Amino acid sequence: MFPRLIVGNWKMNVPTTTTNLFVAQLAKRVSANVPVEVVLAPPFPFLSEVGSAVAGTSFTLAAQNVFWEEQGAYTGEVSGAMLKSLGCQYVLIGHSERRKIFGESDDEINKKVKAVLHHDLFPILCVGESLEERDAGQTHHVVRVQTLAGLQGLEKVDVSKVTLAYEPVWAIGTGRAASVDQAEDVHGLVRETLCEQWSLAPQFIRILYGGSVSGENAGVLFQSDQINGALVGKACLDLDAFASIIASTA
Ligand code: PGA
Repeated sequence: MFPRLIVGNWKMNVPTTTTNLFVAQLAKRVSANVPVEVVLAPPFPFLSEVGSAVAGTSFTLAAQNVFWEEQGAYTGEVSGAMLKSLGCQYVLIGHSERRKIFGESDDEINKKVKAVLHHDLFPILCVGESLEERDAGQTHHVVRVQTLAGLQGLEKVDVSKVTLAYEPVWAIGTGRAASVDQAEDVHGLVRETLCEQWSLAPQFIRILYGGSVSGENAGVLFQSDQINGALVGKACLDLDAFASIIASTA
């Protein structure tokens, strides 16, 4: 089993203090006795600064996106090699905001997963259904299709390096987190899908939950063995809330 993984997705935001101060204050609040991996995912222009700030702490660095090509005429894009050179270890891929606002397809997401693995970075593949899909009883179908498409063509050894993040779209930024039962149900499905397709041992599959995780609900979510950590949006730039989410993993 791995320690729980807590990822702070800053999205297109920065802390109200300087990033250095934010990271230093967060590091002070995270007890060395809690076995947890904390990852910060700032916007691209802050990767270098946050990368320097986390050096000497137990935190690591993630990017929020990547492009699958190595280099070339791709205005506005950033390659896996560039992210690696800035000290990133993880890359978020297929976040529902990328899928919805930027029209990312499962095929593009699959290319990104492969590019990230190629650069010895760890993908965090986000999957999740919309409210309409949940109401229509399609949650399992949607999540299964996104999971299989995102990981298509990968060998078992590579799938074992991927962290999945179940993020129901209706729970993101709404203050309405999934219940433990709802999260466990989908985490179970994702785990089963990976076990079936790639014969991975269930305890080696890491699945995060994301969507309105807060200092208040994290403790309840982490009572479940199926929930191996959290992908945190809004609450990750609030020191008290993020520190409390991290402490809840104990
Ligand atoms: P939220 O975002 O915690 O603000 O709901 C989660 C996410 O989008 O990863």
